[in-house]
Amino acid sequence: MSTPKLRAELDGIPTYKPGRPPAQADEGRPAFKLSSNENPYPPLPGVLEAAIAAAGAFNRYPDLACVALTEALAERFGVPAEHIATGTGSVGVAQQLLQITAGPGDEVIYAWRSFEAYPIVTRISGATPVQVPLDADERHDLDAMAAAITDRTRLIFVCNPNNPTGTVVRRAALERFLDRVPADVLVVLDEAYCEFISDPEVPDGVGLYRDRPNVAVLRTFSKAYGLAGLRVGFAIAHEPVAAALRKTAVPFGVSQLAQDAAIASLKAEPALLERVAALVTERTRVVDALAGQGWTVPESHANFVWLRLGERTADFAAATERAGVTVRPFPNEGVRITVGETEANDLLLGVTEQFRKEL
Ligand SMILES: Cc1ncc(COP(=O)(O)O)c(C=O)c1O
Repeated sequence: MSTPKLRAELDGIPTYKPGRPPAQADEGRPAFKLSSNENPYPPLPGVLEAAIAAAGAFNRYPDLACVALTEALAERFGVPAEHIATGTGSVGVAQQLLQITAGPGDEVIYAWRSFEAYPIVTRISGATPVQVPLDADERHDLDAMAAAITDRTRLIFVCNPNNPTGTVVRRAALERFLDRVPADVLVVLDEAYCEFISDPEVPDGVGLYRDRPNVAVLRTFSKAYGLAGLRVGFAIAHEPVAAALRKTAVPFGVSQLAQDAAIASLKAEPALLERVAALVTERTRVVDALAGQGWTVPESHANFVWLRLGERTADFAAATERAGVTVRPFPNEGVRITVGETEANDLLLGVTEQFRKEL
């Protein structure tokens, strides 16, 4: 029996793997999810109230153009409202970035390993992924990425900090790289975790995009702001990039709950900064403890840490699971561990200590 003809490009595209839910809690033992780089805190002050108020009207469509949120973002970042495009999480905006730039025959460059959605959205568009290995220190190899540019390159992702390694590219290196990229190739600075950066040498993409029409900045409310479940992200880019993104947005894709919660989150910036500072302190504690146990940990600038475990990856993930902590294994490469609640981090450090002794 024949079946509907589907696009050949879809064959073999890996499906997006979400972080596993927490291990089953048994005998009253707590279980923690450190597998999705989520924020362990409840909504910021005022956010739940805004979402509840919006929920009372969900028989209505949301504001299609996200006008109030766009204005709030424009004011927060000091950019024209026309430079903002919202979407269903930054992964939704990433998919739109592919839609507006690339198709069959085109190439998309990104570091590897990096955010696992890049190969997926690239291949859905029909374009060819060009994966440039991270350097020996788990960082983007910007020289190799520049060397990989051809006349078919349409888009380059720079994930800063990089998921899953937590490493960053600093200002001088990034500017040198941007100067080497042809003006007709779009560079997307994916800054999903930028709020956790405390190194002043790591540039804010919003400063870099201003005089570079081929640079777009991708941001999300899912991580530091703690709205992962509401699905709202955005890009800041010059026209015509931002305008093209608005054209390709799924109509009504950002719910009114998400829009209003995002606006309320922006208003709660002081509380946000406190929470980010607490998570960064906790990250330092975890990294120092791991180093003390003898682990080599790349310097993380995000809310997660990376352990390159190679073939021991699956064993390690099973060991953390037994202790009630779910991490994110990348088979035969390593594990990414979100910095979570203190109790979860302590459980994790207990496993790493034991595992290290048995290596
Ligand atoms: C680097 C990076 N970019 C973008 C995203 C997408 O986040 P969201 O779609 O929730 O905004 C993630 C999520 O894990 C990420 O790690």
